[in-house]
Amino acid sequence: MMFSRLFSLLSFLSLWRPGVGNLNHGLSANSSNSCRCVPGDSCFPTADTWAQLNTSLSGRLVNVVSSAAFCHAVGCTDAQWTSSVFRANVPGAMNQVNWEQDYFSDPPSVCFLNSSDSRLPQQCNQGSGDVPLYAILAESAEDIQAGVNFAREYNLRLAIKASGHDYLGRSTARDSLLISTHSLQGILFSDDFVVGDTNHGSAVTVGSGVALNTLYAATKAQGKIFVGGTAATVVPAGGYVQGAGHSALSPAYGLAVDNVLEFIVVVANGSVLTVNEIEHSDLFWAMRGGGAGSWGVIVSATFRLYPTFNATVCESVIITTVPAAMGAVAAVHAKHIFDLDALQAGQYFWVVPTGVMVSDAEVIAMLVSTYFPNNASLEDSEAAYQPFIEEVGNVTNVGVLNNTCAVAQINDALNSASDAVGTDLVMGSRLFPASVYNTSADAIGDMYTALLENGTQYILGHLVAGGQVAENADIDMALNPAWRTAKTHMIIVNNWNDSFSIPEVAAQERLFTSSFQRAALTEIAGEDSGSYTNEADGLEPDFRTTFYGPNYEKLEAVKSIYDPGDLFIVAAGVGSERWDKAGFCRV
Ligand SMILES: Cc1cc2nc3c(=O)[nH]c(=O)nc-3n(C[C@H](O)[C@H](O)[C@H](O)COP(=O)(O)OP(=O)(O)OC[C@H]3O[C@@H](n4cnc5c(N)ncnc54)[C@H](O)[C@@H]3O)c2cc1C
Ligand SMILES: *[C@@H]1O[C@H](CO)[C@@H](O)[C@H](O)[C@H]1NC(C)=O
Ligand SMILES: *[C@@H]1O[C@H](CO)[C@@H](O)[C@H](O)[C@H]1NC(C)=O
Ligand SMILES: *[C@@H]1O[C@H](CO)[C@@H](O)[C@H](O)[C@H]1NC(C)=O
Ligand SMILES: *[C@@H]1O[C@H](CO)[C@@H](O)[C@H](O)[C@H]1NC(C)=O
Ligand SMILES: *[C@@H]1O[C@H](CO)[C@@H](O)[C@H](O)[C@H]1NC(C)=O
Ligand SMILES: *[C@@H]1O[C@H](CO)[C@@H](O)[C@H](O)[C@H]1NC(C)=O
Ligand SMILES: *[C@@H]1O[C@H](CO)[C@@H](O)[C@H](O)[C@H]1NC(C)=O
Ligand SMILES: *[C@@H]1O[C@H](CO)[C@@H](O)[C@H](O)[C@H]1NC(C)=O
Ligand SMILES: *[C@@H]1O[C@H](CO)[C@@H](O)[C@H](O)[C@H]1NC(C)=O
Ligand SMILES: *[C@@H]1O[C@H](CO)[C@@H](O)[C@H](O)[C@H]1NC(C)=O
Ligand SMILES: *[C@@H]1O[C@H](CO)[C@@H](O)[C@H](O)[C@H]1NC(C)=O
Repeated sequence: MMFSRLFSLLSFLSLWRPGVGNLNHGLSANSSNSCRCVPGDSCFPTADTWAQLNTSLSGRLVNVVSSAAFCHAVGCTDAQWTSSVFRANVPGAMNQVNWEQDYFSDPPSVCFLNSSDSRLPQQCNQGSGDVPLYAILAESAEDIQAGVNFAREYNLRLAIKASGHDYLGRSTARDSLLISTHSLQGILFSDDFVVGDTNHGSAVTVGSGVALNTLYAATKAQGKIFVGGTAATVVPAGGYVQGAGHSALSPAYGLAVDNVLEFIVVVANGSVLTVNEIEHSDLFWAMRGGGAGSWGVIVSATFRLYPTFNATVCESVIITTVPAAMGAVAAVHAKHIFDLDALQAGQYFWVVPTGVMVSDAEVIAMLVSTYFPNNASLEDSEAAYQPFIEEVGNVTNVGVLNNTCAVAQINDALNSASDAVGTDLVMGSRLFPASVYNTSADAIGDMYTALLENGTQYILGHLVAGGQVAENADIDMALNPAWRTAKTHMIIVNNWNDSFSIPEVAAQERLFTSSFQRAALTEIAGEDSGSYTNEADGLEPDFRTTFYGPNYEKLEAVKSIYDPGDLFIVAAGVGSERWDKAGFCRV
């Protein structure tokens, strides 16, 4: 592609990507302190100053490169590239590789794994793209304090990463100092976790590097289970809980925010605070749903535990080549969704392309995984589940490939070794109220048909609300109240790969908000329906209402107490409207 054409396109893009046009990347003056200090600024720390920080951290400060640059240097297998375990261990690596790229600066700064592509000059140095410059591999609260104090004193852009799972790119930032909490691997069990005068009973305190798979194994050994997601390396005490934290067990036990009892947090002034119902209760309110990365650096969090159990897990694969037939399946699914209520089941129902072609049409699959908790018997579970599958069997042009139910130990059923990641993708989402399933099952089916006929490939449904999530409506916390009336969370994924041109990448990034997709979801869910911040589009135009509902103003008030200088700014986070898109300059 001709660069002149590319650049005129980029200046056009900056018109509708507020902030990109006035970044002054690398040139900001800091004269009014309206911008963070970046290399080249007189306020940016000198090499000697960084070396002193490194010494104070006993050498735990490292240079950061993108995952592609890391792999160029050491050589990686495809299995590593696509592994979330590998990506948790490489400080600059994000799970969605697109967040490591800076596609839209002038000139762009990208680094591809397979760099034979010569359309763009590759930049794979320290801090190239949207990768941080330096990372602190924190091993203690003191290491985190050193990082927070240094970033505040030198007016640096600060980023925090636990696993790098974030779908909004909130765990990286260009020219930043990154605090990685991946090494905080402590796990401490308590039979009587007391806050004030309340004994909450069995609980576990986990460091903010402990991954779900580690915790599923550790709690199993204690005969316990907690409310955790279906993922390998998502960190419960990282971004997961600050957003809400949904689980296949949520209809039975609520969200992670309903089960967190305490945080230990380093706040912007460098103090380590104990945050719970009694101490700093305003911050405790905010950190339960007020969004990841906006409050401080979590050192550890304590979660309620339950006696573990067996679950009946049902798996079905439903296929068709006809979009309208998948829409009919979705309508049947919607009609039967309340069948699962009595047993408090959680479910994932994901419509995905298979890549398999049958006479010029691609096979589309709906993968359905249903978890019946609390020792529900195989017979009772099948009785609740099979009416859905039986009715699907009557839909024209549809096949049920696989349909099995089996009893499994719940910690094992939710545990996995790694997540398949390492691609370029963004998503958008809406919480679907329970009421629409009572009134609009056919309209939900029509929504699927329309989305699929319009080229949407991934429509991911999560039945992770209702039940105990609804019953916990009176707990006072920042969580978007749309969760309390929701039945499901519905996600649309848009992806690309390194062969896409920059305008094509821009189009994919905007597809959810600019096309038919978002309108299709809100038509069913309601214009004022909410979205789960952790699985969402960072470009939501009205993010304050969409992500935080009526709680935004109070969240701003709490932030002004604990982070008056806006040290913790992330995409679509509280206070982010005061900053440009990349978080460098006040607007
Ligand atoms: C494969 C996959 C499966 C998923 N499954 C589920 C699921 O079942 N249920 C669910 O609810 N969500 C799920 N998610 C979404 C997940 O909750 C978010 O990606 C979440 O942000 C991950 O948190 P993290 O700390 O592991 O990730 P990171 O990318 O490391 O961090 C995410 C955000 O949290 C902040 N953060 C990280 N560590 C800290 C810390 N120590 N202190 C303060 N802020 C911190 C970061 O700055 C960033 O803003 C899934 C995501 C993926 C990619
Ligand atoms: C930039 O801002 C920081 C933090 O307010 C300040 O310490 C520093 O002196 C400023 N640098 C310049 C060059 O103004
Ligand atoms: C920090 O010090 C360690 C050990 O002395 C060294 O290996 C590392 O490269 C240093 N980090 C930076 C960013 O220079
Ligand atoms: C890079 O190339 C290898 C070998 O051709 C291929 O297997 C892999 O999928 C490619 N990866 C990416 C991210 O392009
Ligand atoms: C840091 O801020 C917290 C919360 O406002 C406050 O309780 C604490 O005393 C402050 N610490 C210092 C050293 O100022
Ligand atoms: C599940 O069964 C086990 C073993 O009998 C028991 O200890 C546990 O309390 C049961 N859990 C529930 C939720 O019924
Ligand atoms: C499926 O179709 C058959 C034949 O028309 C009918 O008897 C049966 O009731 C249908 N089953 C369901 C679950 O709709
Ligand atoms: C079908 O179910 C079995 C048993 O759960 C599982 O091992 C197999 O992988 C499934 N097949 C597909 C295509 O999902
Ligand atoms: C749980 O399931 C296992 C088989 O997966 C079985 O051995 C065990 O007895 C079951 N426990 C309960 C409480 O049902
Ligand atoms: C929807 O219908 C189900 C099943 O009949 C019922 O339990 C539930 O209360 C209804 N919910 C709403 C919001 O109307
Ligand atoms: C596809 O989207 C367009 C608008 O972007 C809309 O007019 C059209 O109705 C959609 N197609 C279907 C099948 O709904
Ligand atoms: C990238 O995506 C395009 C368009 O979907 C596809 O044609 C191409 O095969 C993909 N390339 C790779 C390496 O996967």
